[in-house]
Amino acid sequence: MNASIKVWRSDPEGGAQPGLVSYQVSYEEGDTVLQGLFSIYDNEESVAFRYGCRFKRCGLCAMEVNGRPRLACRTPMKDGLTVKPLRALPVIRIMAPQGNYDYHNKYFSDEPKYLVPCQLPAGEEEAIQDLVLKAYRVLGCRGWGRLDIMIDAATRRPSLLEINTSPGMTGHSLVPMSARAAGISYEDLCLQVLASAALDQRKGAWGQ
Ligand code: FES
Repeated sequence: MNASIKVWRSDPEGGAQPGLVSYQVSYEEGDTVLQGLFSIYDNEESVAFRYGCRFKRCGLCAMEVNGRPRLACRTPMKDGLTVKPLRALPVIRIMAPQGNYDYHNKYFSDEPKYLVPCQLPAGEEEAIQDLVLKAYRVLGCRGWGRLDIMIDAATRRPSLLEINTSPGMTGHSLVPMSARAAGISYEDLCLQVLASAALDQRKGAWGQ
């Protein structure tokens, strides 16, 4: 079988303009997107993608397939797919009274405003999304997480504060709020998180 798929290409050296490139891929029934990328790589070694276990364990092959976060090693190959690097969800900007997002304002007050879309100056949200994804990868995170940052009002320089690798998932929590703004329902978000879940502890590691 043959599939025509589009793959996002960019040049980390800043050369060619980033964009979608079309490829013809031959595949067999049961092949995955990861296998499709390997077959592109066989002809074009400059195509870069990440993977580890190749069978739903490490989460390294997470990417956006037709606008949704997916594991490439678990997503069936088919005609018409668009494959892009994983994006961070939309930034939520917290506007607290007097800029004071303390324990009281965080948990007991209705005064803080949560802006999504964040209404930051042009380009800042994208730069922050790139930054947090890099931090997420450098720290070897998998599944989902929430990174908190502060922006210096004078320099507009963002500083990473912390990453929460098991953030709140209630109806009022920030990750579901951001996902909702990206058009991902709470149910779909839960399914996407679960799809990348894995038990890393190997049998026998507890001395059994
Ligand atoms: S390569 Fe490990 S989950 Fe896909």
